[in-house]
Amino acid sequence: MAADLGVLFCVALLLFSGLGHSVFVGKSHSGGKDDPILQYVANNSLREHPVLTKLKLTTLEHPWRRMMVASEEAQFMANLIRLINATKAIEIGMYTGYNALSMALAMPDNGRVVACEIEQSYFDIAKPFFKEAGVEHKIDVRLQEAVKTLDELLQSGEAGTYDFVFIDADKINYDTYYEKSLELIRTKGIIAIDNVLWSGKVLNPAEDDVSSKALDALNKKLHKDERIDLSMLTVADGLTIAIKR
Ligand SMILES: C[S@@+](CC[C@H](N)C(=O)[O-])C[C@H]1O[C@@H](n2cnc3c(N)ncnc32)[C@H](O)[C@@H]1O
Ligand SMILES: *[C@@H]1O[C@H](CO)[C@@H](O)[C@H](O)[C@H]1NC(C)=O
Ligand SMILES: *[C@@H]1O[C@H](CO)[C@@H](O)[C@H](O)[C@H]1NC(C)=O
Repeated sequence: MAADLGVLFCVALLLFSGLGHSVFVGKSHSGGKDDPILQYVANNSLREHPVLTKLKLTTLEHPWRRMMVASEEAQFMANLIRLINATKAIEIGMYTGYNALSMALAMPDNGRVVACEIEQSYFDIAKPFFKEAGVEHKIDVRLQEAVKTLDELLQSGEAGTYDFVFIDADKINYDTYYEKSLELIRTKGIIAIDNVLWSGKVLNPAEDDVSSKALDALNKKLHKDERIDLSMLTVADGLTIAIKR
């Protein structure tokens, strides 16, 4: 986690210098936020709910804004949720709630998102937006270690009942999150895994770079994993879609 925060802090510093543009299009493994192609994608495909836009603008004032999910990536996941009629989802690493809110908005009124987060202050930012969007009742925030929450869901007999999981917390625990998510989702359920390209650092991880090494190892494991079908998308910082067989 300390290493993750170090990396994120450096990236956040880089980002400070370039703020002030009209449309924030999110992070990318290539080109960066000023890439005209990303601007084009944002201009011609985003259908952002007004409360999501407000939440994004508020989060852009936060020191760790770099952690926020990319809007086009969140919209893609919301579309998958609609496509498979998902009513039970898990978010592992909620931050200020952009993707949790996006998933909740894509679900019917009986839909539920279990959102895992350890930092109370991030939930404090998210909460009023969940309320304003009218979906507070759909988002069940669990403020504790994500592994503990996943274990509790398994212990309460919910294995095989979830439709969608988004993994986006501490990278060194991704493999654990993946294994527990695979137990929690149903056949044809989807596990979406963020940052699988980790700004390109998975290509040649430094000896002491535990996050890059963990992501690279997980990518290679999933490629051979016969329990799933998969696609590794180059959207944002890399998004793997794993579909349980
Ligand atoms: C990249 S951010 C998530 C971004 C979020 N998905 C969004 O839609 O903007 C990662 C989050 O995971 C949280 N986190 C890190 N380690 C965690 C853990 N062990 N359990 C639960 N949450 C954790 C961090 O506090 C941080 O808010
Ligand atoms: C995207 O929209 C903004 C604001 O309307 C505009 O300034 C910019 O030129 C557009 N860029 C592209 C590539 O469409
Ligand atoms: C989703 O629900 C609609 C009706 O509500 C149904 O027609 C459709 O077949 C369902 N799709 C899937 C993939 O279950």
